[in-house]
Amino acid sequence: MQRRAIWEGRKWLHRSFSSMPSNPLRVCVVGSGPAGFYTAEKMLKVKQQAQVDIIDRLPTPFGLVRSGVAPDHPETKIVINQFSRVAQHERCSFFGNVTLGSSISLSELRKLYHVVVLAYGAESDRSLGIPGENLKGIHSAREFVWWYNGHPDGRNLDPDLKSADTAVILGQGNVALDVARILLRPTTELATTDIASHALAALEESSIRKVYLVGRRGPAQAACTAKELREILGLRNLDISIQESDILLSPADEEELKSSRIQRRVYELLSKATSRPKLADLNQRELHFVFFRKPNSFHESKDKTGHVSGVHFEKTDLKGVGPGIQIAIGTGEFEDIKCGMVLKSIGYKSVPVDGLPFDHKKGIVPNDRGRVLSDSSGDHTLVEEGLYVCGWLKRGPIGIVATNLHCAEETVSSISEDLQKGVLSSSSASPKPGREGLLQLLHDRNVRIVSFSDWEKIDSEERKLGSSKNKPREKLASWDELQQASIK
Ligand SMILES: Cc1cc2nc3c(=O)[nH]c(=O)nc-3n(C[C@H](O)[C@H](O)[C@H](O)COP(=O)(O)OP(=O)(O)OC[C@H]3O[C@@H](n4cnc5c(N)ncnc54)[C@H](O)[C@@H]3O)c2cc1C
Ligand SMILES: NC(=O)c1ccc[n+]([C@@H]2O[C@H](COP(=O)([O-])OP(=O)(O)OC[C@H]3O[C@@H](n4cnc5c(N)ncnc54)[C@H](OP(=O)(O)O)[C@@H]3O)[C@@H](O)[C@H]2O)c1
Repeated sequence: MQRRAIWEGRKWLHRSFSSMPSNPLRVCVVGSGPAGFYTAEKMLKVKQQAQVDIIDRLPTPFGLVRSGVAPDHPETKIVINQFSRVAQHERCSFFGNVTLGSSISLSELRKLYHVVVLAYGAESDRSLGIPGENLKGIHSAREFVWWYNGHPDGRNLDPDLKSADTAVILGQGNVALDVARILLRPTTELATTDIASHALAALEESSIRKVYLVGRRGPAQAACTAKELREILGLRNLDISIQESDILLSPADEEELKSSRIQRRVYELLSKATSRPKLADLNQRELHFVFFRKPNSFHESKDKTGHVSGVHFEKTDLKGVGPGIQIAIGTGEFEDIKCGMVLKSIGYKSVPVDGLPFDHKKGIVPNDRGRVLSDSSGDHTLVEEGLYVCGWLKRGPIGIVATNLHCAEETVSSISEDLQKGVLSSSSASPKPGREGLLQLLHDRNVRIVSFSDWEKIDSEERKLGSSKNKPREKLASWDELQQASIK
């Protein structure tokens, strides 16, 4: 294993010497999701002397495009082709299986590179902080998504889909719609997607027939978008239920809708769905949109100790707290929904690494157009030299894939400005070890890097396994399987 790592190291060194200017600008991007790849692409374009290394903790690249985007949304994953071309650029390299914070520290990385761009996303969850949140049967949407998308850290989730017929999803954003759709879509339609095989098998045996999508505010504030809502409303054999009284608009709602076309379209779709005729099919499934309810606590099952059996909700009213902003306020009235599973889809959360300034309240790295700030209090803002941020770690866990393109443009233009102004020391005045130093350090620590060509072996194995099942790919969903395929 170690001999192989050395050999691979020599190969990269050869490649870097043959195609690089003598003193390249050494850039390391941490995270190979959309933010990481768009940053690398822009950096290679604007700085001809830049050598860009992308590291990721997984042996597979592409972040949430692989492990977040739903299996029944293949068109969204086409962007992988563009990202692959970036990884294959002669001045770019991908090093998978390298974790910032354990394989290498932030201060080590900053010593090796002129520029470090952190784009490692949001790999944790917001919590509700209410009683019963740790009961079995309650999962975050992130964990559930990782499970059905074959993320190796989601392999052992094993959600119980067989003991009950009802699931409650908390939150009404697009992730909530994704997980509801996966629970409710006929499995014959999922069978030809790249859904992980363990998830497909569990969904085929699922007894969940009823899903409640619960929001703390009203249909005028639902966080999802129209295209995604239309898709779930159009599922085969699905009964939709929305209380007509929930659809009534207050004057403040009407004002809010006037200023947002997206919210207006979502509201119109929900409003129309209230008058849909009920299905008469015995095998139908049910989706209930429930508004104006905030979770108060979770009930523990009397038969299955430690397991959730329902959610205790407080009814809410909306209160205006600023122009176009209404928040949910408890009314003191309560209501229960019984269920065997709860998925909390109330937003992702980024996590800091040692030595990184972090705003725990906002869950982001404090930054000025991508420049990491060590102190932004008072009149002084102190910038961390050579350290930048992009994507969900910079803005918080919102936005679609394309949002990260604009985000990367902003960060890269800050880097360019800093180079021009001399804020960043030039690569010729102070050469840095960059890739060679990284490979040496990882080799000394026995970290087995997965190169982009190793990933291509995983990719071709997955496609081969998938083709026999009429799937675009059969994802290798455990660390061991991924490791094995990468060294074949
Ligand atoms: C469930 C879900 C479905 C979505 N579906 C869509 C969709 O259909 N269409 C759409 O346009 N947008 C969709 N989005 C939004 C889109 O995925 C995000 O906007 C985008 O992925 C954020 O990019 P990012 O690069 O900041 O983070 P990520 O994509 O999360 O990439 C972060 C990368 O960093 C790596 N990493 C994490 N920690 C470390 C570490 N310590 N060291 C090294 N590497 C690390 C991770 O492995 C990952 O590869 C979806 C989001 C979610 C959550
Ligand atoms: N197909 C796609 O394009 C696609 C698919 C998936 C994800 N995405 C994108 O990825 C991003 C993340 O999506 P997301 O769904 O995770 O986040 P989101 O859009 O921010 O939705 C979060 C939901 O959780 C609710 N919530 C937050 N805190 C809560 C609490 N304490 N109690 C009860 N409810 C709470 C929010 O309600 P309030 O509004 O009341 O705060 C909202 O309904 C979004 O930008 C989304 O568009 C896109």
